[in-house]
Amino acid sequence: MSVKVTPEYINLLNQAVSREIQVSIQYMLQHAKMEKLIRKVIPENILLEKTTYDAVGKFLKEFAIQEMKHAATIMERIYYLGGSATTKADKPKIGNSLSEFAKNGVKAEEEALVLYRKIIDAAGKIDDWETREVFEKIYGEEEQHLFKFQEYAAMKDEPEGPETVPLSEWRKIFTSDYFALLNKAVAAEISAIIQYTNQHEKASLLALRGKNTALEVITESNKAKVVSDLLKKTFLVEMEHLEKISERIYLLEGEAVFTPDPIPQVGNTADDFLKLDHEAENTAIVLYRKIIEEALKRGDTQTRRMFEDIVMQEEEHYWSFDDFVR
Ligand SMILES: [Fe+2]
Ligand SMILES: [Fe+2]
Ligand SMILES: [Fe+2]
Ligand SMILES: [Fe+2]
Repeated sequence: MSVKVTPEYINLLNQAVSREIQVSIQYMLQHAKMEKLIRKVIPENILLEKTTYDAVGKFLKEFAIQEMKHAATIMERIYYLGGSATTKADKPKIGNSLSEFAKNGVKAEEEALVLYRKIIDAAGKIDDWETREVFEKIYGEEEQHLFKFQEYAAMKDEPEGPETVPLSEWRKIFTSDYFALLNKAVAAEISAIIQYTNQHEKASLLALRGKNTALEVITESNKAKVVSDLLKKTFLVEMEHLEKISERIYLLEGEAVFTPDPIPQVGNTADDFLKLDHEAENTAIVLYRKIIEEALKRGDTQTRRMFEDIVMQEEEHYWSFDDFVR
């Protein structure tokens, strides 16, 4: 007898997905903000502090990727149970100093542990051992995250240097409408990360099921497998893009957004995924060309070159999806 799954149960698992996506974005953006924090610390402390900032910056990125993998694992489980995995994220809380990052981390991880104890309990009650095991494993990792953040949460932040330095001439090109444009790229990357992660898990289920005819066994199911593998690779590249673009924004004293735009779309078949992803890459390419043009006009060489690299990779993604679009 298979496990008896209720909508409330799926909803509970989706709450876990929402918070995993939240912390993944939260930690990645905090990681990206680290360079900016280092520069704000007064010069006498910079050598001493750089080690701490580097260490925190490093594990924040590791955690960010780990959390997205948690999200993926839970999504996979939801699809296997016949539910539909959400693309909605809870709201990330970034902060402005190392201790704020750590405190927000402690809070997020504590919330996760409470929720996951509840899920482990609920899974046990309906004999859903596999879900229970998934969450027991994740629970252990969240506990490690919590301990790591606790180490830094009590730390006293280094005083910031005086903000008396006037804005140099060259920096006047970084206006708020320019940041708004760059943030469209951040939102597009977040959207792609969520969309591809979700579809990857749904595709891996499709790859196993739905083999109704011999032809489907060699075509449709293989296609789902191909798409699933493709999305896994691609999602990691989009994570790197999010990191680079948000790092640039923070370094220029802007604030990065943390909500996806466009809204991630999942679809139902391998062909749906391909069509949607093809379109997502198309939208990104058009937007990034516009950013390149704007950066060129303003003389922001660094941003322009960064987006030239990124747009090349988006084009690769576009063609890799294009190979399979019918
Ligand atoms: Fe997690
Ligand atoms: Fe965590
Ligand atoms: Fe990207
Ligand atoms: Fe892409």
